[in-house]
Amino acid sequence: MAFQAPSARSVCAILRLGEGFQGFVIAVAKHFLLYTGMFKAMRNRYPIGILGATGMVGQRYIQLLEEHPLFEIAWLAASDRSSGKPYGEAAKWRLDTPLPERIARMTVSPAEPDGAPKAIFASVDAAIAREMEPKFAAAGCAVISNSSAFRMAPNVPLVIPEVNAAHLHLIEEQPWRKESGGYIVTNPNCSTIGLVMALKPIEERFGIETIFVTTMQAVSGAGYPGVASMDILDNVVPFIGSEEEKMEAETLKLLGELKNQSVTPLPARLTAHCNRVPVIDGHTECVSIKLGNKLGRAVTREDILAAWAEFKPLAGLELPFAPGQPVEWSALNDRPQPRLDRNRGKGMAVTVGRLRPCNVLDWKFVLLSHNTVRGAAGATILNAEMLASLGKLEPPAPPDRPGSLKHKRAVEIGDAVAAGISALVTGGVGFPGGTDVC
Ligand SMILES: NC(=O)c1ccc[n+]([C@@H]2O[C@H](COP(=O)([O-])OP(=O)(O)OC[C@H]3O[C@@H](n4cnc5c(N)ncnc54)[C@H](OP(=O)(O)O)[C@@H]3O)[C@@H](O)[C@H]2O)c1
Repeated sequence: MAFQAPSARSVCAILRLGEGFQGFVIAVAKHFLLYTGMFKAMRNRYPIGILGATGMVGQRYIQLLEEHPLFEIAWLAASDRSSGKPYGEAAKWRLDTPLPERIARMTVSPAEPDGAPKAIFASVDAAIAREMEPKFAAAGCAVISNSSAFRMAPNVPLVIPEVNAAHLHLIEEQPWRKESGGYIVTNPNCSTIGLVMALKPIEERFGIETIFVTTMQAVSGAGYPGVASMDILDNVVPFIGSEEEKMEAETLKLLGELKNQSVTPLPARLTAHCNRVPVIDGHTECVSIKLGNKLGRAVTREDILAAWAEFKPLAGLELPFAPGQPVEWSALNDRPQPRLDRNRGKGMAVTVGRLRPCNVLDWKFVLLSHNTVRGAAGATILNAEMLASLGKLEPPAPPDRPGSLKHKRAVEIGDAVAAGISALVTGGVGFPGGTDVC
């Protein structure tokens, strides 16, 4: 399928100027989106591939992408255990909507770039992603990833479109982009996304100096089969491998500033306590914050409620997965609750409640977000929609067809770059891999 990318060179140029122009970027992108990309794509959808298609997050992609106006699933890949089988046989479908017939009949491909489409939604374990994602990027694919493998690499954007879309410019700093047009973009860990969406409007208006967060995280965050039922029923597990470190580092990168082709993390102090609780979907977080002095006067409850209510940075862009109200306030004193609130905004909104003064810091509140929708598959889809709207989903210099010399060279370069970045990751910018964390 041939695409004319929504030609948004000027949007990208503006993006280079930094986050201060994000509102302007959005206004210009809206123009391109409405009159070029989105309308064309609706007639002719972007073929996308799913790497890790049989897993918890892979299944969510399939569920959420059914009838998506921009993206059409064209390729599914998983481990050697699954490849060569029809998807319906390889995957143990765990979701509460039926597996689409067309997908059930598709054959699971080996996890190799040959034959894969140019946009890959990736959801494999970090250790596997560290090896695999650079190969796809080197072969000219836009790898839009859920894994933690490259989130903290300096030239890899870690993005929530409502929060820091301008950081997407970092893809231009990646070696694959220059060689083959491919790149890696990541979304944060499932517990970080909800926290950062609730904090962004507050940070923007008032500044934040200190964050204290305690999570109660759903079992689906650990993939399938996840925590053994004997360990989690009638219980709370006060440890999730590497989760606290991820929340602490990712939050500050997401709220940081893009300057001179790198992100300066927000200079705030953050401590996280992460717990696994017997809930299927939906992470709940209790947050206390000490504010900065951007406003020049004491911040009231009404100020914070207004910051959340007026936070609509993607309004008018018409991105199909962008919730109209990204941070939804619940005034009831026993909310948010996972069972009752996780599907707000089709699972893409964060619900906040119980805002009250904190005796130790300034304010405290509770938030809830759907960990496999907003915290995983939906986050990748929204990143892809944003990339499409900026004209970055079609690589400018695609490699030759699979099997050609140039293609093989790109794959070799990918291996070399993977080795380099893996060294960086283990040298302190990433996290140790683990199968029980997101
Ligand atoms: N669950 C969440 O809420 C969440 C949230 C944010 C981020 N994440 C991240 O998303 C990623 C996937 O999580 P998940 O919960 O979906 O895990 P999962 O349920 O364990 O699924 C893992 C997927 O990876 C595939 N896979 C395993 N080994 C492979 C290999 N060598 N080559 C290719 N594919 C391979 C599996 O295929 P087979 O079926 O063939 O084994 C399966 O499709 C992880 O990095 C996780 O940290 C998860």
